[in-house]
Amino acid sequence: MVTGGAGFIGSHLCERLLARGDEVLCVDNFYTGSRANIESLLTHPRFELMRHDITMPLYVEVDQIYNLACPASPIHYQFDPVQTTKTSVHGAINMLGLAKRMKCRIFQASTSEVYGDPEVHPQPESYWGHVNPIGYRSCYDEGKRCAETLFFDYHRQHKVDIKVARIFNTYGPKMHPNDGRVVSNFIMQALLGRPITIYGEGLQTRSFCYVDDLVEGFMRLMDSPAGITGPINLGNPGEFTMIELAQLVIELTHSKSSLVHQPLPPDDPKQRRPDIRLAKEKLAWEPKVSLREGLTKAIPYFEQVLRQGRRATAA
Ligand SMILES: NC(=O)c1ccc[n+]([C@@H]2O[C@H](COP(=O)([O-])OP(=O)(O)OC[C@H]3O[C@@H](n4cnc5c(N)ncnc54)[C@H](O)[C@@H]3O)[C@@H](O)[C@H]2O)c1
Repeated sequence: MVTGGAGFIGSHLCERLLARGDEVLCVDNFYTGSRANIESLLTHPRFELMRHDITMPLYVEVDQIYNLACPASPIHYQFDPVQTTKTSVHGAINMLGLAKRMKCRIFQASTSEVYGDPEVHPQPESYWGHVNPIGYRSCYDEGKRCAETLFFDYHRQHKVDIKVARIFNTYGPKMHPNDGRVVSNFIMQALLGRPITIYGEGLQTRSFCYVDDLVEGFMRLMDSPAGITGPINLGNPGEFTMIELAQLVIELTHSKSSLVHQPLPPDDPKQRRPDIRLAKEKLAWEPKVSLREGLTKAIPYFEQVLRQGRRATAA
């Protein structure tokens, strides 16, 4: 079962699981996901789709749970912050309850946001984070932190077999084109020939992982020996400033866009970079796709979205 399976990362995961011969139950309430993301899977004989909100209990027969359901971009998770916390916390309780009943392994899509605005670079899993508990990002950051707590308490108290991945910025085809995440923002602005918005000086850095690399990491963690619970960082340690990213996007889209600067949003981390030594050691995993290569693969998707949008408008 993949919760959030109609979302960006979830839909790639469903595809990969089907490709290796698994049966996949995709559970999603379509809050940020879309049928378009899984359209090509709907007729697959081993794929099943269930519209369900994981804040409600779920009784199904499954043998592995990937828990990805949760809006991931600030625009979406701040739109209904109470629901965001409920999805992380009530959702984790419901999915862990199901894992306990089914005696099955459960994977949690946690996030680098548990490190907040980190004072340690790069961030190892042993770093406890620097998180504002009452800010605009807290519904997401603290929700995910509480979900991790629940995973480890179900593990210690009920012997549930858990796998917790801390995911760093990921990009690729099927990302929501208008959700304010930096890669999709820059590509859309460049393709539309609009100015590219840089917050602050643009010297804050991020590391970007291509979605295929991430999904490979998910599956390796899920299939790892029971002793490996995580939390384990999954991300690409290559570090780029926002200015460098914007320039690369402009080059690859052959755009004439200029850069415009706007004030930094509150609690925006200055630097975020994963320490992936644990993933290398325990999972023999590291990202293979460079930013240039990944952007080259992702850009055609956004071009297609724009073409379809134009067709819809024309129609
Ligand atoms: N994309 C990233 O860079 C990134 C980074 C860190 C962590 N993550 C985590 O990975 C997971 C997937 O992220 P994504 O980028 O694919 O986001 P996404 O918004 O594309 O996908 C999330 C999916 O969860 C569904 N969903 C939300 N609330 C739900 C609920 N209550 N019940 C059922 N379904 C629900 C949405 O409809 C959507 O299909 C999330 O848990 C996110 O926090 C993503």
